[in-house]
Amino acid sequence: MPSAPGNNPDYRRAWSRFATGVTVITTVEPDGTPHGMTANAITSVALEPPLALVCISHARTTFRLIAESGKFGMSVLGADQRATAEYFARRPEDREGDPPSGYTSADGRHPVIEGALSTFECEVVSAHEEGDHTIFVGRVQAFETQDGEPLMWFESAFGGLQGG
Ligand SMILES: Cc1cc2nc3c(=O)[nH]c(=O)nc-3n(C[C@H](O)[C@H](O)[C@H](O)COP(=O)(O)O)c2cc1C
Repeated sequence: MPSAPGNNPDYRRAWSRFATGVTVITTVEPDGTPHGMTANAITSVALEPPLALVCISHARTTFRLIAESGKFGMSVLGADQRATAEYFARRPEDREGDPPSGYTSADGRHPVIEGALSTFECEVVSAHEEGDHTIFVGRVQAFETQDGEPLMWFESAFGGLQGG
């Protein structure tokens, strides 16, 4: 029987069955310090012009930093970057030491995650507030990509294409 989402505990479980890849959204503090956050609510929006979106909760540090800077990076993680996804999924105050995969940025470029399968540098073209999240649409200014197995997220757990 279909259920109404309301406060139904099965609502999150229903979404957890949508298997996705995993990205890290990168931003910069006003002093230039890079900041990352694990995210899977992303998609390519259009090819002409090249647009991509990410949905960010208003509770995230990343929300404030994108709203302030008008820029973000998107790094698609490989299967060997599970520890990086776990690190950037923790609240900033709960992260210990350096990230397992560091930030990289060519001269004057936006920081992205080293060793990622694909990286995209985006400039925000519009922001849409919906509920407790904002959808940031970014125009892709530059990208890089390399072959590799992706990191996946399914039923609230990380895994590879063949499962955990
Ligand atoms: C697999 C996975 C995907 C996530 N996707 C998103 C997302 O798309 N948007 C979001 O706001 N938070 C998402 N989160 C939660 C953030 O990664 C988490 O709250 C993080 O601590 C936020 O960091 P920040 O406050 O430094 O920005 C996700 C977490 C996981 C584990």
